[in-house]
Amino acid sequence: MSGALKTNDGRLVVVSGASRCGKTTQVANEVKNERRACAWDPEAQWCELPGWRKVTGRQALMEAMQARGHVRVAFVPGPDLKGDFDFWCAVVFHAGRFAGPLVAIAEELADVTTPSKAPGHWGILLRRGLKRGITIYAISQRWAEADKTTIGNCSEFVLFAARGDDIKYIARKARVPEDALAALKPLEFLRIDPLTKATTPGKVRFR
Ligand SMILES: Nc1ncnc2c1ncn2[C@@H]1O[C@H](COP(=O)(O)OP(=O)(O)OP(=O)(O)O)[C@@H](O)[C@H]1O
Ligand SMILES: [Mg+2]
Repeated sequence: MSGALKTNDGRLVVVSGASRCGKTTQVANEVKNERRACAWDPEAQWCELPGWRKVTGRQALMEAMQARGHVRVAFVPGPDLKGDFDFWCAVVFHAGRFAGPLVAIAEELADVTTPSKAPGHWGILLRRGLKRGITIYAISQRWAEADKTTIGNCSEFVLFAARGDDIKYIARKARVPEDALAALKPLEFLRIDPLTKATTPGKVRFR
């Protein structure tokens, strides 16, 4: 193939599971060696991790993400959650495209998206970011209430134990038996490749 169309694709990792099951810790472990990463951090957790810089305010986010080299930024939004989320997505897309590939971490998507098509710049990031080398970790406790574009573009599921409607929904989308999810203990997960259906069990480690 000619080099012109070759892209260094990012991955879209969908992370699901009930509260306190280990989602944030697992993703933090997976990205610990990434040089360029930006987290949507509504609960101000990522900004407390070693090596991460807390950023508040849209102007500050834009400035921080213009850096071309090493950058690990946790953006803690203000009261306009949906507006700030859209802005964060736009900045991440732009940074991945012009300043260099990066990893984006989006916490609790059910708070900022709906079950319909991905809104605004989140949709653009999902549809156009991956082929520009942006890897996205999309995290939610409640995927039945979060957007379907994310699920549809997913390249890897990391599924922790869920409850009720969410078990049904995510099991159907990842094509895994509900029983397999119901049997997971806290901190245990299944990693599923939606193309090959390969399933690998895992467990969160604390560092
Ligand atoms: N260093 C540690 N040692 C032992 N347990 C820990 C440590 N750090 C976190 N935990 C526990 O691990 C569990 C998982 O926490 P984590 O924040 O990763 O879950 P989560 O799925 O992201 O939750 P939420 O949906 O509320 O965001 C929690 O019960 C937490 O108290
Ligand atoms: Mg969490």
